[in-house]
Amino acid sequence: MSEAPPRLEARNLTKRFAGKTVVDDLSLRIAPGQVTCLLGPSGCGKSTTLRMIAGVDMQDAGTISVDGALICDTVYRVPPERRSIGLMFQDFALFPHLSVGANVAFGLSGAKSERTERVRHLLDRVGLAGYHDSYPHELSGGEQQRVALARALAPRPRIMLMDEPFSGLDNRLRDGIRDETLAVLKEEDTSVLLVTHEPEEAMRMADDIALMRGGRIVQQGAPYNIYNAPVDKEAVAFFSDINVLEGVVRNALTTTPFGEFLAPGYADGARVEIVFRPQHVSIDFDRNGRGPNPTRLAGTPARGHVERARFMGSESLVEFRMEHDGEVLRATVPNVFLPAKGTPMWLTVRRDRCFVFPVGEAG
Ligand SMILES: Nc1ncnc2c1ncn2[C@@H]1O[C@H](COP(=O)(O)OP(=O)(O)O)[C@@H](O)[C@H]1O
Ligand SMILES: [Mg+2]
Repeated sequence: MSEAPPRLEARNLTKRFAGKTVVDDLSLRIAPGQVTCLLGPSGCGKSTTLRMIAGVDMQDAGTISVDGALICDTVYRVPPERRSIGLMFQDFALFPHLSVGANVAFGLSGAKSERTERVRHLLDRVGLAGYHDSYPHELSGGEQQRVALARALAPRPRIMLMDEPFSGLDNRLRDGIRDETLAVLKEEDTSVLLVTHEPEEAMRMADDIALMRGGRIVQQGAPYNIYNAPVDKEAVAFFSDINVLEGVVRNALTTTPFGEFLAPGYADGARVEIVFRPQHVSIDFDRNGRGPNPTRLAGTPARGHVERARFMGSESLVEFRMEHDGEVLRATVPNVFLPAKGTPMWLTVRRDRCFVFPVGEAG
């Protein structure tokens, strides 16, 4: 096989604290030069996974390899400082008594002229060329962040591990710093494992997303695939509001007030949930009790009454109380659309944007 091994491969990692399994048989591969986001809710085990890869914590089971070479199992262990792994955490601490230049030079070895040149290049690259002799306390939070990035990249790590590195920054700065950071990481051609609990951040930064829940990776793939081919209802819900219709399968079809949905591969009598996002609901005005004609793509319209409408900035979110079951469904509409409470409207659901999942399977 000519295929290069992954830059980083974790296999069957497990970590328990006081008998509680926090990381549960987790496997993960990171390709060279790619940004992989480990995305999941607070407490799902992201930081613990990162600490094992960094070598700060030791796993109870499983192996970690870099470029095909084992760096750690439960017996053998390359110490953290020899793993060629750079670290950047939310509460990154610069050395307060060292200048910016000395902070960046901290992990560097080799000839003095090369070190000087490396520091100069990186400070220039992160837009801090004039700050070489400043001290950390003289810098803003965003500037300190950029110094931390330069410091972590200075020794040319093969892998950068970043744990929620942007969450300490205020919103206004964050997007710009994310984009700049990404540009620098790409230029340095390092592989990155970035931990975040924010789906927007993962979508913005990642080539590849590893979706984590309860100590496990439930899905790994390109952002487009994770968003458009989610493995379960929770994976849909992690990225947006969701609507859910329940149904029972007959002849590989589920009949709902919105018409029939395909449910291939399900046995007769199986209970399924049809899950769809608010942006894939279309709405039409009621004309003397009638809605739009049914179509193949949109199925049959069902009528609801506006419960609440809110302007969200680039879109409006409208909640409908449905006539058929009294439940609420949500639709988003571009720009401003704020119909009065009680307005009757017809909803249709894009068939090609629905996901069908079995009911009652734990994620
Ligand atoms: N050193 C520790 N001792 C005991 N429990 C821990 C320790 N570190 C983490 N945990 C627990 O492990 C779980 C996962 O933590 P963590 O990996 O920090 O999650 P995340 O980074 O996804 O928010 C949490 O329930 C946390 O309380
Ligand atoms: Mg964490």
